Amino acid sequence: MPATLTINGQSIEARDGWSLFDHAEALGIDVPTSCRKQGKCRECMVEVVEGLSALSPHTDPERHLKGNFRLSCQTRVLAGSGHVRCHTMRRGQMRIERHAVGFSDRALPLDPAVTRDGHRILIDGVEVERSTAPILGLAMDLGTTTVVLRLFDLETGDLLADTSFENPQRFGGAEVMARIAYDTDHPGRLLLRTLAGYLSHAIEKFPVDPKSIYELVVVGNSTMRDLFFRQSVHSIGQSPYRSITEIEMEAGKRATTSLTQTGLRSLLPIHPRARVYGAPIISGHVGADAAAAMLAVDLAHETRRVAIMDIGTNTELIVGNRDRILAASCPAGPAFEGGAIACGMPALEGAIESVAIDDKGCFHLGIIGDQKPEGICGSGLIASLSELLRTGRMNDLGRFDRDRLDHDDSRITLFRGDAGSGDVFLLERDVNELAQAKGANVAGLHVVFSRYGIDFSDIDVFYLAGGFGRHIDVEAAKRIGLVPNLPTEKFIQAGNLAIEGATMALLSKTKRQELEDVVRRVEHCRLETDPHFFDFFVEGCQFKPMEGIPCAR
Ligand code: FES
Repeated sequence: MPATLTINGQSIEARDGWSLFDHAEALGIDVPTSCRKQGKCRECMVEVVEGLSALSPHTDPERHLKGNFRLSCQTRVLAGSGHVRCHTMRRGQMRIERHAVGFSDRALPLDPAVTRDGHRILIDGVEVERSTAPILGLAMDLGTTTVVLRLFDLETGDLLADTSFENPQRFGGAEVMARIAYDTDHPGRLLLRTLAGYLSHAIEKFPVDPKSIYELVVVGNSTMRDLFFRQSVHSIGQSPYRSITEIEMEAGKRATTSLTQTGLRSLLPIHPRARVYGAPIISGHVGADAAAAMLAVDLAHETRRVAIMDIGTNTELIVGNRDRILAASCPAGPAFEGGAIACGMPALEGAIESVAIDDKGCFHLGIIGDQKPEGICGSGLIASLSELLRTGRMNDLGRFDRDRLDHDDSRITLFRGDAGSGDVFLLERDVNELAQAKGANVAGLHVVFSRYGIDFSDIDVFYLAGGFGRHIDVEAAKRIGLVPNLPTEKFIQAGNLAIEGATMALLSKTKRQELEDVVRRVEHCRLETDPHFFDFFVEGCQFKPMEGIPCAR
């Protein structure tokens, strides 16, 4: 029997001598490339999720790749039977939030740093170009897992386009510590160069002249931001986990942790004299994305008690108001973003995003886009766990009921595929990964609230930020204990606050200054030094509602 190959959920019979790239082209799948299969651009990566051993050996251009990542132009399916399943680094329209919910209709000042004086185009009053073409700017949320870009006309404030894609740096590891190790061990800034290739393609697809882009505002966690600005990230990976910018600021060598560089140095096709501004980080792993979220909700002027939780590979937690602000970063790992989960995937088309089990035991799935399920994203994982718990298929320790498992193995199948697509299932091992990710988040919440000296019930507004927070079922999240067991009306599923804050900093110098000011007022909770962290973590690994703070102090 000939080998079969499934790429991005589409299947084809493997042909002798054809690379994975060739097969993808035959299926009509767009593989990122700048070198047309020459093994030079390193952009044609695929992640192999099944059948790794049925592939040809690594070639020289692939020596920077580890684990199950391969260059599709270099890899062939070996003759014989078998099944290989892989996917490209996904580009195109992921499910992104064009606006943070409830924030887009506010009247915001439009006073960008880039201005026009006749034909003269100025950045902070300094001429950088003479042109009558539009003045454009980009806001970017550079996440560990996903990248979101928004393009604006800086003279009108109009949103012209947006796009998003999976961060291709995943070949260096799914979470920031792995990326730091990769960047330290591999010369040549491979992570930056690969990302810059993907970003350049995305920018060139916008219906504008990229050279009309005069400013780019970047937010992201400390590691992602510093990698983009060619900073050494080694110190972020070592206790006490500090960015070079934080160390230099403490030594009096710089006045802010924000960074700037030119468009030319960024390796992007924007105007070479454009300014690329990396928003300030808060401290340690609490990065510029958390800072941007604070700007988005106007925490500097907030009188109510507010919590912001952006659940991700590193979950950011912020608690406070205009009087006092605490922040922490929880090393949750990639499980809630679909990483380290057998059938996990980002919230792209084809991802299972909701699950309900009826009285007859039938699974009802909500899929992003109108297509067959390819995998399961974070909100689908939360819904699955909640439903398995509610129907007794799983206990609060995350153990499956052995009598209700699929007969052939120890998995619970959500979707049974056919010849054209694979099964989508959950393993007990996946649940264990999710339990540990949840444990880290719960421990972070307990530590921050304890240090603030308040209980969960003292919070007036609980923002769930990020694409993940926007789409989770809050009742499901409460049932499994991912978020505190508060009245549902206190939760606001706010969407991408980081890109909203980046947008504000792009469109307004006033807001950018507010951002610089508010980060200086934040007290950073270093979770790793809290003596109760491990106890909270163990408790948090259980799937049960999260009640009050046991030892507020
Ligand atoms: S297409 Fe450029 S490395 Fe494969």
